[in-house]
Amino acid sequence: MNTFGQRFKVTTFGESHGSGIGCVIDGIPAGLRIDKKYIQTELNKRKPGLNGYSTSRKESDEVEILSGVFEGFSTGAPITLFVKNQNQKSKDYESIKDIFRPGHADMTYFYKYGLRDHRGGGRSSARESAARVAAGAIAQQMLKELGIEVLSGVCSVGDILGENFDFEYAKTSEIYALDKQKEDLQKKLILSIKKTYNSIGGMVLLKIQNVPIGLGEPLYHKLDGELAKAMMGINGVKAVEIGEGANASKLTGNQHNDQITHEGFLSNHNGGILGGISTGQDIDIKIHFKPTPSIFLPQSTIDVQKNELTLNLKGRHDPCIAIRGSIVAKHMASLVMADMILLHMNSTMSGVKKFYIK
Ligand SMILES: Cc1cc2nc3c(=O)[nH]c(=O)nc-3n(C[C@H](O)[C@H](O)[C@H](O)COP(=O)(O)O)c2cc1C
Repeated sequence: MNTFGQRFKVTTFGESHGSGIGCVIDGIPAGLRIDKKYIQTELNKRKPGLNGYSTSRKESDEVEILSGVFEGFSTGAPITLFVKNQNQKSKDYESIKDIFRPGHADMTYFYKYGLRDHRGGGRSSARESAARVAAGAIAQQMLKELGIEVLSGVCSVGDILGENFDFEYAKTSEIYALDKQKEDLQKKLILSIKKTYNSIGGMVLLKIQNVPIGLGEPLYHKLDGELAKAMMGINGVKAVEIGEGANASKLTGNQHNDQITHEGFLSNHNGGILGGISTGQDIDIKIHFKPTPSIFLPQSTIDVQKNELTLNLKGRHDPCIAIRGSIVAKHMASLVMADMILLHMNSTMSGVKKFYIK
């Protein structure tokens, strides 16, 4: 139950305060150039402790490639990536061992499994998302060879909504902000919320460019369905919108339809996907992250014996998970796109014949 994808298959392992986290990727075609430095660059963008806008947990998140790569190329064997945990402070969690933190997975894990690793949230911690980023960075290397680019950035923090989006600018921003004009306000909001021991939600935009027509496996593995599932699988995500998204329900047919000319579509309200298959336009997705559940204000909760109590949390936390979440979203989308490409190769006889050896 820890595996994602059908052809580009990623199994992640590890916990927040265990010895480390990692993944095994199976199904990568042999001969893909694997640049370890690129995996590291992407991990560095997600890693904690980068600045005052993320958690102060310090992890170097250095990746090791344990298998599947020979002289810089994939061999077709499973690729194993491993990142050591270095900065666990398990003692911070000792006092809340039997307490369910509001907004966290403590209660559901306990009732589902009958036990739980309370240290930093164990498996439910977003520390696991480092493994997703490492795997996604390999998927990105495959997509790059095909000219497909996956971009992400933070659109809104609380009610401060970006209006002009610059994905190149977001790469350089401390909070991966898409709108340079709104960035300062968004930063100020994060810091002021942090000062009041609270947290704030945020929305991330994802754009996938240079997508060929035809990716997606209707009816049960539609491209939009797979992307939405991947995004909802990220910790803290509460809603995903494709193209016009929730706004579509307010529109009329002539407002929403993307009319077609011999030169292509006149608009992109459908977000680059029709019938679960890519149209060749950009794929546009909005991802809504909830406020970080760990806040330092008194909260009512219960313990494993159902005793009511007031919880006063301590520890190190992201004030706004959308920031580092934007990097995770980019890599989850890359995993989906790589998987869909490998699935698509088998969807027509001409695709199959390409691999027929006489
Ligand atoms: C990149 C990233 C970083 C996160 N950092 C924190 C954090 O520092 N503190 C926290 O309480 N939750 C954090 N979360 C969110 C929790 O992991 C998540 O809300 C919790 O496990 C419950 O899962 P759910 O919100 O998906 O229901 C983070 C999520 C992501 C994606």
